[in-house]
Amino acid sequence: MRPLTRPGGDASKENCLCRPALKELVRRRIRERGRITFAEYMALALYAPGLGYYTAPGRRIGKEGDYFTSPNVSPLFGAALARQLTQMWELLGRPVGFAVVECGAGTGLLAGDILKTLREALPELFAGLRYLIVEVSRPLAAVQRRRLGTLSLPRSKVQWFFDMAHLIREPLPLVGCVLSNEFVDALPVHRVRMVRGHLREIYVTLKDGRFVEVEGPVSASGLVEYFPALGVELVQGQEAEVNLAALRWLEQVGETLDRGFVVTIDYGYEAPELYDPRHLGGTLVGYRGHRLCTNPYEAVGRQDLTAHVDFTALVKHGEKAGLATTGITSQMMFLLSLGVLSEIDELPDGLEARRERLAARHLIMPGGMGEVFRVLIQHKGVANPQLQGLASPWKA
Ligand SMILES: C[S@@+](CC[C@H](N)C(=O)[O-])C[C@H]1O[C@@H](n2cnc3c(N)ncnc32)[C@H](O)[C@@H]1O
Repeated sequence: MRPLTRPGGDASKENCLCRPALKELVRRRIRERGRITFAEYMALALYAPGLGYYTAPGRRIGKEGDYFTSPNVSPLFGAALARQLTQMWELLGRPVGFAVVECGAGTGLLAGDILKTLREALPELFAGLRYLIVEVSRPLAAVQRRRLGTLSLPRSKVQWFFDMAHLIREPLPLVGCVLSNEFVDALPVHRVRMVRGHLREIYVTLKDGRFVEVEGPVSASGLVEYFPALGVELVQGQEAEVNLAALRWLEQVGETLDRGFVVTIDYGYEAPELYDPRHLGGTLVGYRGHRLCTNPYEAVGRQDLTAHVDFTALVKHGEKAGLATTGITSQMMFLLSLGVLSEIDELPDGLEARRERLAARHLIMPGGMGEVFRVLIQHKGVANPQLQGLASPWKA
């Protein structure tokens, strides 16, 4: 066991900012097993029931939280998605009971914007619509219920599921769209390192009561197969994250969806870029109070941990799970194709509208949210769909 270079952090800082009960839980888990994979550490830090970053009460997303997401920036994001959902509903033959499944719904802003837009614009779709939220965090599900409760929606319009396994047990066939924004980047990742031609995994253990990293053999066969399947070779010393949980989630989506689409919006790259030696140390970072943290063992349970998404793996694995690739584009092109610019122009005059206009432009900013975020669309049981969000915005 050789300690790696990433430091365990300043102990005094760790003590004042972390959740002691969570830290003790992680320590106990390590004592039981000697060491845990980084993915297990991240799963506990983010999702240990009642204690993790997402599962303990408190503000996470938005101005008073740690980071912004697109639904926080502008309601025009949800309105554009509602227009894309409308076209999907038409391509699927206007089914009654059309389902929108949102995975990881955060504070429920996106759900609210989509539901309000569809209620106003398309009563026929809205009448039969089922909005199904898959949310692992009980405190966030409570926030979502409160927010959506203010919209006077018909009873049972929105239903909650703790995880995909619960949704799979639903008896009704699922025809519609599985949607997520910044969900995949929040799933726990394994961390690996290339050492003299061998893939090694990064584990977390204890030294003098502090968390330290050690290398060991990879813990899952999926990790060994991962890079050859993508045609990627890591260079000596390169570290990288592997999101096996995302692949398992896609398998469940493929199993659950009878006919329809999967829209995954997140930041990340295609594999050759993500695993390029330019990202020699991987892409794992933490966020706390709108600041970047580079030490994942600091402020345990009080900083978000996240890694860039490998879109090539989602495409390839999706195909194995019965999900054909419809297309992939940037958030900027997606929103422009769905007419966000005319929506921005239609905002009324005045100070508030000027603020909204400025905020909405952030969504499509080249070099910012517009470019960093990518939109992957996959489909099942629909022949060659031509989606508005994937068409060129310049061909009006
Ligand atoms: C980064 S937040 C994004 C929230 C929201 N989509 C947005 O754009 O504001 C990640 C969300 O995914 C949820 N989540 C993470 N892992 C999950 C899982 N396995 N099943 C369901 N929800 C999960 C978190 O609780 C949180 O609501």
